[in-house]
Amino acid sequence: MASTVSFSPANVQMLQARSGHGHAAFGSCSAVPRAGPRLRSTAIRVSSEQEAAAAVRAPSGRTIEECEADAVAGKFPAPPPLVRPKAPEGTPEIRPLDMAKRPRRNRKSPALRAAFQETSISPANFVLPLFIHEGEEDAPIGAMPGCYRLGWRHGLLEEVYKARDVGVNSFVLFPKVPDALKSPTGDEAYNDNGLVPRTIRLLKDKFPDIVIYTDVALDPYSSDGHDGIVREDGVIMNDETVYQLCKQAVSQARAGADVVSPSDMMDGRIGALRSALDAEGFHDVSIMSYTAKYASSFYGPFREALDSNPRFGDKKTYQMNPANYREALIETAADEAEGADILLVKPGLPYLDIIRLLRDNSALPIAAYQVSGEYSMIKAAGALGMVDEQKVMMESLMCLRRAGADVILTYFARHAAAVLCGMGPK
Ligand code: PBG
Repeated sequence: MASTVSFSPANVQMLQARSGHGHAAFGSCSAVPRAGPRLRSTAIRVSSEQEAAAAVRAPSGRTIEECEADAVAGKFPAPPPLVRPKAPEGTPEIRPLDMAKRPRRNRKSPALRAAFQETSISPANFVLPLFIHEGEEDAPIGAMPGCYRLGWRHGLLEEVYKARDVGVNSFVLFPKVPDALKSPTGDEAYNDNGLVPRTIRLLKDKFPDIVIYTDVALDPYSSDGHDGIVREDGVIMNDETVYQLCKQAVSQARAGADVVSPSDMMDGRIGALRSALDAEGFHDVSIMSYTAKYASSFYGPFREALDSNPRFGDKKTYQMNPANYREALIETAADEAEGADILLVKPGLPYLDIIRLLRDNSALPIAAYQVSGEYSMIKAAGALGMVDEQKVMMESLMCLRRAGADVILTYFARHAAAVLCGMGPK
């Protein structure tokens, strides 16, 4: 409503008459109250941010140097003549609304908007998920344009190098495991010479200062495609799975992982992992718990990437019901008590309320996972010209931060960091 009100000398006079402050009409230069010219010059700047940057001349048309010389000589500029910017033909002439509060005042210039910005984002907030495989070539992932299963010896190292170049120093690894190595109990998960431990050692050797997060769950190693061991009646066995996960996390820690990240949603796994890590002397290895991980359809493209779709059924007996909010507090309390260092919410954008809930109920750092489906939707809509991919990407990441996420796991990490570094697309 306020945005349609534009000033003309006529309605400013109406304001003067009504407010009864006794100022002379704005039509006369000599009697212009201070607010007049200020409003006017602000209006000029607001009209275009580029114009503001290019404004090396005073409104009088003289150069800044000429204005300074005059000021030194004691000649100060007179208030500019009051010429109100013209409104388009047909704009209704109305009395300005009588409002003490006009929130738009705090948005009127780039400098003010920057000063009052509540949320910031930097490449340091990003964790880049990387898919790895045993192959030498990088294989494109159909459902995730721009993402690849990276060859662990070549493509992966190059990707990490490029990410570091734009300030992304944190990575989480997801392995594509050959079918021959999968089993019902997922024992390949704790093979010290398996793909993940080998890759960690290689990365740490080449880039000692990066932070390596690992995924702790059986699904990439399970012939059933589930995060845990499946009993013959289809039940996912909790405590037996946790036993395997402890061996997996210890193996990752031994290889040099900085943060192990259980994404499996078994009960009690945080406490068990903490004890197992400590028992082996890994007191400094952190645990990022997938605290509120929902049984979401937004994981579809990821499961294609790893070929890890559950062979039967779904994950609803361990991942949370997307309809639930309070239940996230139960998981939060358990993870905090059991010694989690970071709490994660997944997916990200459709679950902003859960991110805020955890932010307000825990002092621990909060992570948000912008998952594969969120990534692919933005990519697809961008490719079809329906949205501006880069702007929607940056906005979605900022929104995750605003909701309360400290770090964001995102496939956009490199692209977004490049934008933040002023390096434009890609
Ligand atoms: C499995 C795991 C999944 C994701 C991360 N770890 C998939 C699942 O739970 O089925 C999904 C990530 C994404 O969609 O980007 N432990």
